Amino acid sequence: MRTLLIAASASLVTPCVLAAEPAVDAVEQLRAMLPSQSHAMMDVEYHFANLWFAARESNWPLATFYLNETRSHVAWTVRLRPVRKLASGQDLELKPLVESFEHGGIDAVRATLEHKDGKAFERAYRDTLTLCYACHVAAEKPFLKPEVPHDPAARLIRMKPSS
Ligand code: HEC
Repeated sequence: MRTLLIAASASLVTPCVLAAEPAVDAVEQLRAMLPSQSHAMMDVEYHFANLWFAARESNWPLATFYLNETRSHVAWTVRLRPVRKLASGQDLELKPLVESFEHGGIDAVRATLEHKDGKAFERAYRDTLTLCYACHVAAEKPFLKPEVPHDPAARLIRMKPSS
């Protein structure tokens, strides 16, 4: 009886121990497949550049779409890597930077789109670029200085309203 109990408990424990290792490997494998922060930021550039042209054409629904995409892709960037290592060895928490970007930048631009105010939009857009840059500087990438785009990043999306 005792032997049986030992055998039974061993068979209960062993599969758990064996299953734990492949699970850790699987997490590592999935982590290795995630895009880099720089890759996600290229999406941010795409959406934010298009936003400028959609709003300049007074295409408010399209501008709102690009603003929402900008916001969600910046948030995704931070989920990919919430803490960056600085050259000094210190950690840089991206969350507070993203919060000031969202409140000072995204929310301000959204208000101008809701009011269909082109002039106020241009000001809020430029202010948001300053917040983009503030995060790049904090992340020790001062050479990544975004400016008002010359051309839309999209090549086949119509910026003018359809009707
Ligand atoms: C919360 C911080 C943060 C905010 C806000 C932010 N960025 Fe970034 N961005 C980064 C970091 C960090 C990198 C560098 C990623 C890397 O190379 O690892 C980066 C890189 C970039 C790059 C270079 C991508 C490449 O590799 O070619 C572009 C373009 C960019 N950001 C655009 C923007 C724009 C436009 C905004 C604002 C609408 C913005 N970013 C807002 C943190 C931020």
